[in-house]
Amino acid sequence: MEKTIRIAIDGPASAGKSTVAKIVAKELGYIYCDTGAMYRALTHQAIEKNIEVTDEKRLVELLKEMTISFEPNGDNQKVFVNGQEVTEAIRLPNVTNLVSAVSAHGEVRSELVKRQQEIAAHGRVVMDGRDIGTAVLPTAEVKIFLIASVDERAQRRYTENMSKGITTPLEVLKQEIADRDYKDSHREVSPLVQAEDAILLDTTSLSIEQVVEKIREMIHIKLSK
Ligand code: CDP
Ligand code: CDP
Repeated sequence: MEKTIRIAIDGPASAGKSTVAKIVAKELGYIYCDTGAMYRALTHQAIEKNIEVTDEKRLVELLKEMTISFEPNGDNQKVFVNGQEVTEAIRLPNVTNLVSAVSAHGEVRSELVKRQQEIAAHGRVVMDGRDIGTAVLPTAEVKIFLIASVDERAQRRYTENMSKGITTPLEVLKQEIADRDYKDSHREVSPLVQAEDAILLDTTSLSIEQVVEKIREMIHIKLSK
């Protein structure tokens, strides 16, 4: 029988997780699951429904009424909440600025982790986020912790934003990224931390292709064992 593996990619904001996860998933013919999009989708719905990001009980009630689904779209993915497309809306700054507060709630996390584990139940998955190697798929066969300097990550986001016509100054992006890293790393439940058995990959001076090549090597070793 063909051997299949689960690949967990964690790390701070803009380290390149989703970019490389999508490429690797496509090459292997695996599912790609963007867990950050799920936290973003809930945050977006909470804003729409005027629910405070501090109100854990209402957030969980809202989440339980939400279906979050993905649909391939070329090299990217569309995101839907209850059948409505939210792909662009969940990347807007109002969501980005509040998502760490939403994702800090333990009950929100358990509900989303449950859904993420269901998506990965049959293996053949590349999943990226903050707690994949530590909480969602602690027995994943390949675990990678991607990092890059804050300056480099802010510059990457800046370049990406410019291509979409978004002109947030570099310094503002840098501060936003640093704030989110701090919140994600210091929350009580499943903080952003490298799993003991994850491989650390500093991508500061690596191109996307170089990062993908390193991950290919790790996968090759696992698949050929
Ligand atoms: O793509 P970007 O780095 O901006 O972030 P994301 O992956 O879309 O995740 C958005 C936010 O969701 C993170 O800053 C975390 O607060 C939260 N998140 C999380 O807590 N756990 C995950 N597995 C994924 C995301
Ligand atoms: O998912 P995450 O927030 O970790 O980062 P991303 O959205 O995959 O990457 C953020 C930006 O950095 C994208 O525009 C990528 O094209 C870019 N990037 C890069 O320039 N060099 C890399 N080695 C990885 C990503």
